[in-house]
Amino acid sequence: MRLILIIMKKTTVLIFLISLFGFAMPLFAQTNEMIVHAKNIGAVIQPTMYGLFFEDVNFAADGGLYAEMIKNRSFEYPQHLQGWKSFGKVNILDDGPFDKNPYYVRLSDSGHEHKHSGLENEGFFGIGIKGGETYRFSVWARVLEKSKVAKIRIELVNPKSMEETQVIETQHLTIDSEEWKKYQVLLNPKKTNSKAVLRIFLEGKQTVDLEHISLFPIDTWKGRENGLRKDLVQLLADLKPGVFRFPGGCIVEGTDLKTRYNWKNSIGLVENRPLNESRWQYTFTHRFFPDYYQSYGLGFYDFFLLSEDIGAEPLPVLNCGLSCQFQNKKEQDYVSLDSLDAYIQDALDLIEFANGPITTKWGKIRAEMGHPESFNMKFIGIGNEQWGSAYTTRLEPFIKAIRDVYPDIKIIGGSGPNSEGEQFNYLWSEMKRLGVDLVDEHFYRSESWFLSQGTRYDSYDRKGPKVFAGEYACHGKGKKWNHFNAALHEAAFMTMLERNADIVHMASYAPLFAHVEGWQWRPDMIWFDNMNSFGTSSYYVQKLYALNKGTHVLKLTMNGDLVTGTKEQNGLFASAVFDENKNTIIVKVVNISSIPQLLSIKIEGMKKNDMLKGGRLLLLKTDDLIKENSLENPFEIVPEESELKVERKGVNVTIPPHAFAVYILQK
Ligand code: AHR
Repeated sequence: MRLILIIMKKTTVLIFLISLFGFAMPLFAQTNEMIVHAKNIGAVIQPTMYGLFFEDVNFAADGGLYAEMIKNRSFEYPQHLQGWKSFGKVNILDDGPFDKNPYYVRLSDSGHEHKHSGLENEGFFGIGIKGGETYRFSVWARVLEKSKVAKIRIELVNPKSMEETQVIETQHLTIDSEEWKKYQVLLNPKKTNSKAVLRIFLEGKQTVDLEHISLFPIDTWKGRENGLRKDLVQLLADLKPGVFRFPGGCIVEGTDLKTRYNWKNSIGLVENRPLNESRWQYTFTHRFFPDYYQSYGLGFYDFFLLSEDIGAEPLPVLNCGLSCQFQNKKEQDYVSLDSLDAYIQDALDLIEFANGPITTKWGKIRAEMGHPESFNMKFIGIGNEQWGSAYTTRLEPFIKAIRDVYPDIKIIGGSGPNSEGEQFNYLWSEMKRLGVDLVDEHFYRSESWFLSQGTRYDSYDRKGPKVFAGEYACHGKGKKWNHFNAALHEAAFMTMLERNADIVHMASYAPLFAHVEGWQWRPDMIWFDNMNSFGTSSYYVQKLYALNKGTHVLKLTMNGDLVTGTKEQNGLFASAVFDENKNTIIVKVVNISSIPQLLSIKIEGMKKNDMLKGGRLLLLKTDDLIKENSLENPFEIVPEESELKVERKGVNVTIPPHAFAVYILQK
């Protein structure tokens, strides 16, 4: 009989069998009496509670969010023509107009009218162009002789075309000055191609120098030049995130100090932002990308602007004087304590850059870049996954210096790469001693770990620093990574974050983005190729929380006990909040078990004559736990909305097996 039941999954069949065999069949657990204690409103849920963590891993920046389509546009990769094919007479020179990006390319006449000189760029996993859209080609260029002009032909090409011509679109530019100048022309391809290349031919005999060869869609987020991919930003904006942490992760630390993320290199004229290596080029040799660099085209100014656009508090993280401690074990690999001043000054200058009046040095630079108003930055992270006294001794002078000048800025310290244990405990006690405002905790853990954290924060000192669950994702079993089961475990875990919103002030899934052809780390929240993108089921879990976060925690009991999601609570994980703006009570329930469960949700504390006016259910579920959203099926697993039939002071519902339900009750 058990076997039959496992095979026959549909609820209707189960109900039929129950009526046949009655109590002998434990198909539904007993009714779970959930009581929302609404009389005493609990802790405030911070506006920052559900946020985003951006790191340039998995080609999230160049080749991803940053809409530039040309790889190695400034010829600064150590192999100067990486990403390019050259033909005819092409030379690389290094005395270009941008001192921090000195290399450029010279195209000269090949010497034979049937031979051509020029270049072909492969883009990031190809150049994805859409028929009917417009693209802006731009280049810095000069001719070598006064009063001469040079001509170049720019083409978007399908190199694999079996048709009459490979060429999708052609335009021309005339270079008419001996001085370096920016030229641009619009390209209007009629056909779509996800793997196009860009070709540049020298036309005529006149030699030309080219630098910073760039191609952007016109239709970027908010139509900005040097802009971001619209579809990807839209996915972020739809989450209404409370906080936006950038630029990483490990890239903040660098493989060595030379390759750490240096925010000052990421601002100002885009042509003069020096290239940096990406540690994700080589960290995993089984996912090796020798062409992975950081152009800094998407830099700190752009991150602040993006945060503002999507309504999130900007949260920059800076290097604390340590390179990655996994990759560097010796003290001499780090900045010595007496040389830390420059790093501390970077932090102070960053706050001035974000918030300072335009009369200040760094505030003026921000204004010149287009944002005279302050970005109103309130948080700063110092150090990523650092540990030991190497970290705390460096963090201490940062804190002192920042507090002296900017006492209102909230400082975020870290608890290292582990989610618990000796180092973790040491760092927490140090963070308390140093008086940071929040501590960044990271959890890349298994399904069972995610279910075991129901009481994680019970023992935390409510008078100490608050928690930023800054990176987490369920790394589940099996061959797939972004399956529904992982998302369901994250949803269960997040009930615990929400119940503890008095101490957990921020949380963000990680990593955020991955290119389907260029990933190093998975699972990830949003996947994309050059044309399309989709949110995983983890994305929809985040969205359900972020859009229904409420304003205050409410106490929730089940069958008389506080809900903590322990095993005795029938595989149910839950939290309840009040939204004072909408006058709703929101109960989130995750059913990890494989049986449908009856829930009787009662609101205790409503006035005698008050009654619920209505309700809605947002339900995320699928019958197949290892199912994933994909580029082909982006909306396979998305929340479904329905009306709830409410009673006067509660609701009786059945939550399906393996499901995440958000019950929104209108008071
Ligand atoms: O998110 C990927 C990496 O995980 C981050 O760079 C780092 O902080 C963590 O180890």
